[in-house]
Amino acid sequence: MKIGKDVGKAAEILRNGGLVAIPTETVYGLAANAINPKAVAKIFEAKKRPSFDPLIIHLYDAERVVDFAFFEDENAKKLADAFWPGPLTMVLPKREIIPGITSSGLDTVGVRLPKHPLTRELLKILDFPLAAPSANLFGYVSPTTAQHVYDQLGEEVDYILDGGRSEVGLESTIIGFEDKQPTVFRRGGIPIDDIEEITGKVRVREHSTSNPQAPGMLSNHYSPHKILVPGPYKEVKRKFPEQTVGVLLFGDVDTDCPAEFELNLSQSGDLNEAAYHLFDMLRQMDKMKPEVFAFQFVPDTGLGQAINDRLKRAAVK
Ligand code: TXA
Ligand code: MG
Repeated sequence: MKIGKDVGKAAEILRNGGLVAIPTETVYGLAANAINPKAVAKIFEAKKRPSFDPLIIHLYDAERVVDFAFFEDENAKKLADAFWPGPLTMVLPKREIIPGITSSGLDTVGVRLPKHPLTRELLKILDFPLAAPSANLFGYVSPTTAQHVYDQLGEEVDYILDGGRSEVGLESTIIGFEDKQPTVFRRGGIPIDDIEEITGKVRVREHSTSNPQAPGMLSNHYSPHKILVPGPYKEVKRKFPEQTVGVLLFGDVDTDCPAEFELNLSQSGDLNEAAYHLFDMLRQMDKMKPEVFAFQFVPDTGLGQAINDRLKRAAVK
């Protein structure tokens, strides 16, 4: 069986240089031994990921961060206390032991302590960190269930550790500390407001293809195969009169859209619930009849900022 809850089996595969999909509270990751370059190469192959896009390493224990990176920045330490284990990745100067393939030749490495109990159990029995990007084909929507991983990468992975549905549903927030200036590279599971309560004002580097600090942040990431158009259903339908149009809603909204073509991120207007549903619904769209989906941005506060970021990218074709 490719899918299961056998942590011992997952550990054995990873020790032998294999690939295991792991559940995290953000999204599922495609994991390999971060300090084994041959194992890490398999991640890039399986995902068809360009080699210039660096990976995040996942650890059990904050005390071991210093073995793999320089963990000296005061803000970084405070953020670790506040949010680890959890959906926060910190970009730190890397140590020699991290191979170039893992960090794509950068002199920094992204480090995270995930919160999911099954993956923590796994990390605890391993004596190396796990490099893991989201377990989707490059450029597509991140997976939030074992089945999502199986659908796209079932052939490529050796095992999928099934930890149920990812509880947050959005990837981690990524922050770096160059010149002591906290800089957010990707909005994610920890809202920027929560970070600023600890560090004070942060810089937000809007990611793009031309941003060498976060080369993976392509503007058309998270693309479902359907056309997403911002605007109310009525307007979008008018623009695409020949097409079947669906709608992705947030809150208790009435539209003229046939019910079978409607998806709702959160009927009650709850941003946490919307984050939890977002990637699954983007995948559902690809299985539905409409070629075009109307959507509206969610309120741009808290997790809403990360949700809107993903919606924006999903809408770029
Ligand atoms: O929630 C998450 O972060 C998930 C789970 C599995 O941990 N992982 C994830 O990995 O989203 P990935 O590879 O899909 O996205 C990580 C992003 C990439 O776009 C990469 O460019 C950026 O983090 N990144 C990694 N290392 C970096 C570094 N040293 N400096 C700047 N950006 C970095
Ligand atoms: Mg990804």
